[in-house]
Amino acid sequence: MANVLEWSRAYTGRLIAGDKTKRLELATHFQGRLNKEISSGVLPFLSMPYRARLEEDMKRALPLAKKYRHMLLLGIGGSALGLRAIQKAFAPNQDLPNPSGPAVWVCDNVCAEQFDALLNSLDPKETVAVCISKSGGTIETLSQYFLVKDWLAGALGNDWAKQMIVITDAQKGYLREEAKSLSLESLEVPDNLGGRYSALSAVGLLPAAFLGIDWQALLNGAAKVAQPLVQDPHALAGHPSFALACWADALMEHNYNQLIYFSYIPQWSTYGPWFAQLWAESLGKEGRGSMPVAATGVTDQHSVNQMFLDGPRDKGCLFVTSTKQAPGRTFGQNLPEKWSWLRGKAFGSLLEAEAIGTRMALCKSAVPLVHIEMEDTGPASAGAMMMLLEAATVFTGWLMGINPLDQPAVELGKRLANARLGASGYADEEKDLAEFFDVPRQDQTF
Ligand code: PA5
Repeated sequence: MANVLEWSRAYTGRLIAGDKTKRLELATHFQGRLNKEISSGVLPFLSMPYRARLEEDMKRALPLAKKYRHMLLLGIGGSALGLRAIQKAFAPNQDLPNPSGPAVWVCDNVCAEQFDALLNSLDPKETVAVCISKSGGTIETLSQYFLVKDWLAGALGNDWAKQMIVITDAQKGYLREEAKSLSLESLEVPDNLGGRYSALSAVGLLPAAFLGIDWQALLNGAAKVAQPLVQDPHALAGHPSFALACWADALMEHNYNQLIYFSYIPQWSTYGPWFAQLWAESLGKEGRGSMPVAATGVTDQHSVNQMFLDGPRDKGCLFVTSTKQAPGRTFGQNLPEKWSWLRGKAFGSLLEAEAIGTRMALCKSAVPLVHIEMEDTGPASAGAMMMLLEAATVFTGWLMGINPLDQPAVELGKRLANARLGASGYADEEKDLAEFFDVPRQDQTF
């Protein structure tokens, strides 16, 4: 058994055979860059030079965290989406009736009402807070950090610091200074490991380990996919992540402006938002890129699928299934005659049949589709898929001629928000804000 990419319906519609054959030429061009960037440490998500250190840090930090029932996570964007995907996929217990065992609560927004509701229902004595920020200066995360610090101190006095763990850059940023000056337990976000590529570092793995998820399996699954790229200086042309990147780039060249991530592994539905952020923040640049659209089978067959099938012909699709899904309960022999064809069948057979139905329907609508068929739905497979998609994202950025590791456009909104809140050093933004509000409003009530 292995994880498989199935390509028979990928080059279809406006894509042509020539788009596919360009791959070898492109790989020769980019192989040197890959070797150089791996050896200079620019792509640590691939080579994982941080693994030994992470394992040491976990031995220290995990027992501290495990003293508590609840983990309150403060982080946003890449510092939240990967860990939430892992949590929902592999520790679903928390969302079931009468939950027991450890629970993780992810705060990745600044809704005062939701934040209050959460803090009011948690017992600070049973809660360890984990503040995650690579830069250590993200306003949304820091504002929550300040409030949670007060909330813990209100209940625990000076002992609050024993229940605050920080995951941030090893050297730089406000959060690192705070960790040093207050002697907070801390783990590192390694150099050059940007938020959306950091789920398989302490960022995603401390919460995973806290929940009892096999975090080493996640790492091993990812490392297995990355290994040829890291160890073989000629591996790029034959690597599935590069094949995906060439396909995604060809889609964009032919005006397929949306990329559907259709997961027929419902337990992995939160990988949709994780992938959407990875793809959008990495590739939406210089007026280019394709819009990621996350969908979950079978639920979204009754929602957005009509648009996928018969809307604008501007979509490609990554179609994710697993050959090993639980069969579940069996339908009894007592079903009414009208439904007799379900008698004796496993509930799980619906998912399989509907996945085939939807995949075929998409292919018949000429949606270029790559089928990602996972050998099972365990953490090693999830790690493998994460690595595949992260590498494919970076290579797609290289093919597009943009930097997939930065996110310059989102900085403007952050600067304007800081100016609006009265932070110093934002004179230009204050002027821009004043001009924005000078435009007379055009209200229409409803
Ligand atoms: O993927 C990214 O780089 C971003 O989404 C960041 O994760 C997000 O902006 C939060 O940044 P930080 O981890 O520095 O607080």
